Amino acid sequence: MKKVLFVCLGNICRSPLAEGIFQHKAQLRNLSENFLAESCGTANYHIGQTPDPRTLKNAQKNGVKLNHLGRQLQETDLQNFDLIFAMDESNLDNIYKLKNAKDHMRKISLMRSHDPEKSGINVPDPYYGNEKDFQEVFDILDRSIESLLNELVKEKT
Ligand code: 4NP
Repeated sequence: MKKVLFVCLGNICRSPLAEGIFQHKAQLRNLSENFLAESCGTANYHIGQTPDPRTLKNAQKNGVKLNHLGRQLQETDLQNFDLIFAMDESNLDNIYKLKNAKDHMRKISLMRSHDPEKSGINVPDPYYGNEKDFQEVFDILDRSIESLLNELVKEKT
């Protein structure tokens, strides 16, 4: 089983949505047994909280179920996960600051390094945005994760 971790700042907007989209797509491909997807935040602001109501609304609108409570990134995540995806460069810097991160560099990358449209580096933080910004995040994650899953499946065969 391959374990993937999605990381953002607060773990209530982008990364729980990424986790839900990944699980949804894996299920559609009958690959749920092959993957474990989780998410966390680099900050401690929202530990134990359900995703932002706007994230929940957007996920529902797009047919994706979210089942997650906020948690903070920990040093042990570097050992426990096979692949770690940062939503933006600031999240990436914070992952690199973890003790022993240098031993796990190959696992760690930016989510949008898988964006087939190659139209940006960061998944923009929608926290101070509106519904349109949340949908933009969904669209970026949807196509990036589709492409990521294609790559992971190809690797296995
Ligand atoms: P996220 O968005 O990192 O995508 O979950 C944010 C959530 C909360 C805050 C910032 C960004 N905050 O400042 O509380």
